[in-house]
Amino acid sequence: MIAVEELEVVYPNGTRALDPVSLGFARGAFTVLLGSSGAGKSTLLRALNGLVTPTRGRVVVDGIGAVDGRRRLARHRRRTGMIFQSHQLIGRVSVLGNVLTGRLGYHGALRTLLPFARAERERALEAIERVGLIDYALKRADTLSGGQQQRVGIARALVQVPALILADEPVASLDPATAARVLDLLHGICKADRLTAVVSLHQLEFARRYADRIVALAAGRVVFDGPPAAFGDREAAAVYGRIAAEPDDFDLQPQRTGTYA
Ligand SMILES: Nc1ncnc2c1ncn2[C@@H]1O[C@H](COP(=O)(O)OP(=O)(O)OP(=O)(O)O)[C@@H](O)[C@H]1O
Ligand SMILES: [Mg+2]
Repeated sequence: MIAVEELEVVYPNGTRALDPVSLGFARGAFTVLLGSSGAGKSTLLRALNGLVTPTRGRVVVDGIGAVDGRRRLARHRRRTGMIFQSHQLIGRVSVLGNVLTGRLGYHGALRTLLPFARAERERALEAIERVGLIDYALKRADTLSGGQQQRVGIARALVQVPALILADEPVASLDPATAARVLDLLHGICKADRLTAVVSLHQLEFARRYADRIVALAAGRVVFDGPPAAFGDREAAAVYGRIAAEPDDFDLQPQRTGTYA
């Protein structure tokens, strides 16, 4: 459905964030990206949406081809829902208003000056209902809890009628129970609508629970690509290093150094 071919990203300051990486993402598959901080997960997600320009290689999308001109990029972005860790909602605007911004790709900037048509509002309300927030539609986004705000982020992506969902640590700032509910919702919607999803996560247990496929990155390279059942403790240790695989190590440190005594 979407593929990156020999994609390399070197930032202007010389940081090599992605070594040439080639990956294909099949339609309807829920892929989880794992990797420790700085591994290149966000860079890959941003490159998939043209927010980062590759230094080499290309992104190819079914029905569009290589995403290389302004028009093709606009077409690709219109069908791509982005979900971020920090929601990126407009706090003083209502839930409905925030979700409607997901439609801007279809109308251009001029639309922001005009009231949205009734059909658009109905579409947005449907998306809000789907994420369980219909009673909050007219409330200011900043009065909602973190989990609810992330649901608004999902509704805003859904109203785009996306083919692809890219989510960068969508539950990183939520408590574990709320995170599980939000991921459950996102995963359920992607499966029901057969959306292709690429989702970066830090929690291994969530990756194992939801992923059809795990792609792990380390220092800009793919170091694991396979089903969650094949991603055992040894693979995790290779990706995260020994300390992350043995969290007990953290408890010993303060006693040894006496810092917290
Ligand atoms: N805009 C930028 N300019 C320069 N270097 C960058 C930029 N964004 C990221 N990097 C660097 O590129 C590498 C990959 O970063 P990236 O944000 O993709 O990692 P990540 O896997 O998403 O990490 P995290 O888990 O902390 O979010 C890191 O070394 C990072 O410091
Ligand atoms: Mg990141």
